[in-house]
Amino acid sequence: MKGLIAAGGNATRLEELTRVTNKHLLPVGRWPMVYYPLQLLQRVGVREVLIVTGKQHAGQFIDLLGNGHVVERGGEEVLFDLDLSYKVQVEAGGIAQVVGMARDFAAGDRLVVCLGDNIFEHAQAGAIAGWGDGALVFAKDVPDPENFGVVVYGEDGKVADVVEKAGVVDMRYESPPSNDAVVGLYCFPPDVFEIIEGLEPSSRGELEITDVNRAYARQGRLELRRVEGWWHDGGKHWHDLAEVGRLIEQTGANK
Ligand code: G1P
Repeated sequence: MKGLIAAGGNATRLEELTRVTNKHLLPVGRWPMVYYPLQLLQRVGVREVLIVTGKQHAGQFIDLLGNGHVVERGGEEVLFDLDLSYKVQVEAGGIAQVVGMARDFAAGDRLVVCLGDNIFEHAQAGAIAGWGDGALVFAKDVPDPENFGVVVYGEDGKVADVVEKAGVVDMRYESPPSNDAVVGLYCFPPDVFEIIEGLEPSSRGELEITDVNRAYARQGRLELRRVEGWWHDGGKHWHDLAEVGRLIEQTGANK
């Protein structure tokens, strides 16, 4: 099992905060945002991690994380003992394109993908330890489902469809068909790269991770679990950065 962190993008939704730096390097509580998904991967037992970022900020990631052995500043605690690799995405082409870039890195192994701005109270280690042969994704109720990929359930309660930002990206629906967002933590078997090869760009010109998940749902190979604890997408609004930082102080993260 290997890990991938998607840490590219222009993050225009964070306005002035991301003029000169990458969203995933912004502070959330006492840490730069990207530390949280790295810690999640470490907690689920991954050691080899690929970070994909844009070319303007790749140097900053290397400055911060080096080879993945990171010792606490001014102390002795080892924060990360990972084997890190880096790849540069030259143009923002979607999360599925980022996953596709990990083909050689994965080298036939299974892949846990975490979006660099997704922060979790729990690392979901139990669910990932029990991951079967197909793909495993996680869902959480949200008040603003138009901003996410959401799940559509069939009469049998199974996942019938997955819809990316209904009415904005996926035009088959005018409004979101459910409030159950698929969060940015995806576990894929080695055949994910064949699925990505067959994808067409969406209405926003990107290869959508939701289309990958839909392909697994159609094959009856998409396992959906509820997120344990709280979860936040830190890329939506500058407000959230301080709020999530306070929440982490209270509850901890990646437990
Ligand atoms: C992405 C995905 C979306 C998912 C979300 C989770 O959206 O496209 O399916 O629900 O991450 O955070 P983004 O917020 O990056 O546009």
